[in-house]
Amino acid sequence: MDNSTRVQYLEAMGIDVWVSRTDQQVEDVQLKNNDEFELGEPANRQAESIEENWTELRREVVECQKCALCHTRTQTVFGEGHIDADWMLIGEAPGQNEDLEGKPFLGQSGFLLTEMLRAIGLQREQVFITNVLKCSPPNNKDPKVDELKSCHDFLQRQIALVKPKIILAVGRVSAQTLLGTKQPLSELRGEPHQINGIPLVVVYHPAYLLRSLLEKRKAWQDLQLAMKIYQEEKL
Ligand code: URA
Repeated sequence: MDNSTRVQYLEAMGIDVWVSRTDQQVEDVQLKNNDEFELGEPANRQAESIEENWTELRREVVECQKCALCHTRTQTVFGEGHIDADWMLIGEAPGQNEDLEGKPFLGQSGFLLTEMLRAIGLQREQVFITNVLKCSPPNNKDPKVDELKSCHDFLQRQIALVKPKIILAVGRVSAQTLLGTKQPLSELRGEPHQINGIPLVVVYHPAYLLRSLLEKRKAWQDLQLAMKIYQEEKL
């Protein structure tokens, strides 16, 4: 199946796909696919089974009733972006705007996140963005333990499908959840971590940066650390 057919399939299934716009990006994806799949019939079957996994996962998230947030959400926020992305960004939980629109990181936080990516030469379209929680907690409350547990499997499956080369844990809740720790963000940032063998860097949440302009320098340092680790990973 060629890439455009595959994209049509995914879009028909309701999966948000941002298609690479430049030849270079298309080439990158093709190279990655050729690395991972044998050519010919088996490659088609493997691609189809990946699509089926995405479709099934998305269906489970949309229908999820594992915790009380299903009663207050407008809709689930699955995540969006490049399904073969090298970079995966994982935030905390959808806010009110995201709950209404069904997309992650909208509004001012989303704008700043997009700018942070641009600062290290990445378009939002090139990365996959999601949250540890797929539903918005009412009144922007911190996620509860049972809510995080309910979403754990969804996030792990998203990571396994995207197979990113690097993960950015965006903000304290994401970092603590992904790393299974209660350490403060100030101690978690600034050094490399790993989950499931994938490098992970903790960055300040853009909502926090909007309130604390003085931390922007540290945020820039964290992004540079992430880029350094990514480049080493690519060698
Ligand atoms: N919007 C999101 O999608 N995630 C956050 O962590 C904050 C706002």
